[in-house]
Amino acid sequence: MKSVNVLIDKIYAPASTVTPADVEALKPEIEAAGALLHNGQGKGNDFLGWVNLPSSITTAQFDEIEAAAKTLREKADVVLAIGIGGSYLGAKAVLEALSGSFDNLTAPQKGKHTKVLFAGQNISEDYMWELMEAVKNLDIAAIVISKSGTTTEPAIAFRIIREEIERRYGKAGAAERIVAVTDAAKGALRTLATTEGYKTFVIPDNVGGRYSVLTPVGLLPLAVAGVDIRALVAGAVEMEQLTATAPFAENPAMQYAAARTALYRAGKKVEILASYEPKLQNIGEWWKQLYGESEGKEGKGLFPASVTLTADLHSMGQYIQEGERILFETVIRIAQPDHTVTIGADKDNLDGLNFLAGKRIHEVNRMAILGTMLAHVDGGVPNIAVELPKIDAHTIGALLYMFEKACGMSGYALGINPFDQPGVEAYKKNMFALLGKPGYEEAGEALRKRL
Ligand code: PA5
Repeated sequence: MKSVNVLIDKIYAPASTVTPADVEALKPEIEAAGALLHNGQGKGNDFLGWVNLPSSITTAQFDEIEAAAKTLREKADVVLAIGIGGSYLGAKAVLEALSGSFDNLTAPQKGKHTKVLFAGQNISEDYMWELMEAVKNLDIAAIVISKSGTTTEPAIAFRIIREEIERRYGKAGAAERIVAVTDAAKGALRTLATTEGYKTFVIPDNVGGRYSVLTPVGLLPLAVAGVDIRALVAGAVEMEQLTATAPFAENPAMQYAAARTALYRAGKKVEILASYEPKLQNIGEWWKQLYGESEGKEGKGLFPASVTLTADLHSMGQYIQEGERILFETVIRIAQPDHTVTIGADKDNLDGLNFLAGKRIHEVNRMAILGTMLAHVDGGVPNIAVELPKIDAHTIGALLYMFEKACGMSGYALGINPFDQPGVEAYKKNMFALLGKPGYEEAGEALRKRL
């Protein structure tokens, strides 16, 4: 089985207005969008560094990341990865996907079980207090990640965490326990890292935050957590090559981009990314940022939502089945789980489950997936399936790259720049104004009158 298989035949459901001819008609447009990503002639072309990023990572770069990760692991029971948005979601998603669901029950221990915890992805005082409380008797280190080096949420978290690290280990000790991942030259974080003598990794200029998981932004925290980053990148390299060369009908990124574009043009407004594996929940969070921030512009774009099934069939299932018909689903399906659990027979059969005796839970899950797919399709919710042979570093790397490539193509087909995010600034301006940041006084006064 290929690392990632995209099946779009269930978008042509009886109740769907999309036909195979509609998807075929998009072939020239999607191919042209793919060409723009490679020839750099499209919008936002100064942010295309991710296109050939996986295959351009050198052995020396892997070595450097792994060496830094090893140093942090040797010094710390817990490494705090500080970042937000594209500087957080990729590492969080991959780490969760590749960890045991209950690894948090294993005590953190430097070297063997160094844990990565995240900070700076919110401004919750309770989160910050509880995090510092949780690590008060553990050895800590930090990776601070910010491309701009000026983002408020991670900057606040880093100030607090840096003070704690300096208090415990002194300035010189802190310099051995803090690694910064940021721009090569610009931003407050770069200045701070240079002044304090921190080890640093550079986020390439031409890779935007939400496309940066395969740079040190994602790779360093993942390496600290013990993820096989070479296998992750190898999966992405495989997908980079496949999506650059495979014809439309065999190209998973093109098939996915064409299917979702056809559905959008047929009136669908919301794409729900669904999976039946709880450990993929944060892949959904990463994917939402990728597509939401890339496409939601100029009054256009599918709204990306995510669910974890079957849990959410008992909360969102009703709406998906019978609510507004503005939805379609993209469902990640896993062919083989890692482990085997078989349902036993019970002589009394009081729970009435003996019809499942001898079956693996995976088989029940598979029937839930197929049954739900047909029910939703019949209810007017077209279905795209994204099949992975299993969850491992290689397939997750391939999946991430497939989604990135399809996002670039979908964005171009939508006619927007998929690589900027001007709308993110609005809340920041208001927050700074309300906080009285120098330069925002007048705006602050105007806003306060409205509250
Ligand atoms: O995709 C993006 O560009 C954003 O989500 C950023 O990653 C996010 O705002 C964090 O920015 P920075 O890395 O500059 O702190």
